[in-house]
Amino acid sequence: MTTSFSETLRNATWGDHQSAEAEGYLTELMAGRLTEHEYGEMVAQHYFAYVALDGVSRALAGHPVAGAFVFPELYREAALERDLATIYGPSWRDRITPSRSTTALVDRIREVADWPCGYIAHHYTRYLGDLSGGQFIRMELQKIYGYDRGGGVDFYFFDELGSLPRFKNDYRSRLDALDLDERERRRMIEEVRLAYRLNTDVLTELLDVVRTAA
Ligand code: HEM
Repeated sequence: MTTSFSETLRNATWGDHQSAEAEGYLTELMAGRLTEHEYGEMVAQHYFAYVALDGVSRALAGHPVAGAFVFPELYREAALERDLATIYGPSWRDRITPSRSTTALVDRIREVADWPCGYIAHHYTRYLGDLSGGQFIRMELQKIYGYDRGGGVDFYFFDELGSLPRFKNDYRSRLDALDLDERERRRMIEEVRLAYRLNTDVLTELLDVVRTAA
């Protein structure tokens, strides 16, 4: 049996996933050792990353290749605004700034906006993660901080998508349907690995911020 591209992609990048998942900030967060405002630091960094990612998605909506990955139901900006308002109050905008690592991630997302597989690489790394481990993270955060729908963890709710396993299967079929030669497949895999590293750097910097403040 031949391996599908979505499986190849997952297998080739799973080591990077494990490094992202094991990052100290997430460990502290999942153990309930961070204050609500310290959790908010991650939400703020997500906000800047998704303003970039969703913005590029909107621009690519009609693109013949990248357009197959544009789903308005995935846009996270409005949900993150509600989460930040819940965590920090109405003046949340005044207290958030993108970190160095977030700026690097955002720069890269914008840089690859004219390369369909580059865009898809970042899209996959974030959204498929949010629909997978993100759901576990949400349940833990709800237990720790007592959030419900309406603000706090709205980022992780994808009610408009319907069944998440079905959506993820459909997403993987779209990855499999990409018409890519071997060289382009390798380039895309490398971009996913870079996306994991850039996202992990954001978490590493967050841990430094939290530790410095402690
Ligand atoms: C506590 C942290 C995390 C946990 C527990 C976790 C857990 C998981 C699990 C169980 C899956 C497999 C789900 C499935 O097969 O349907 C998964 C998939 C995935 N995760 Fe995570 N994850 C975490 C953090 C992250 C982070 C930080 C990222 C990216 C920045 C990420 C990106 C992904 C992606 C892209 C997939 C889909 C892989 C594929 O099936 O192709 N995850 N995660």
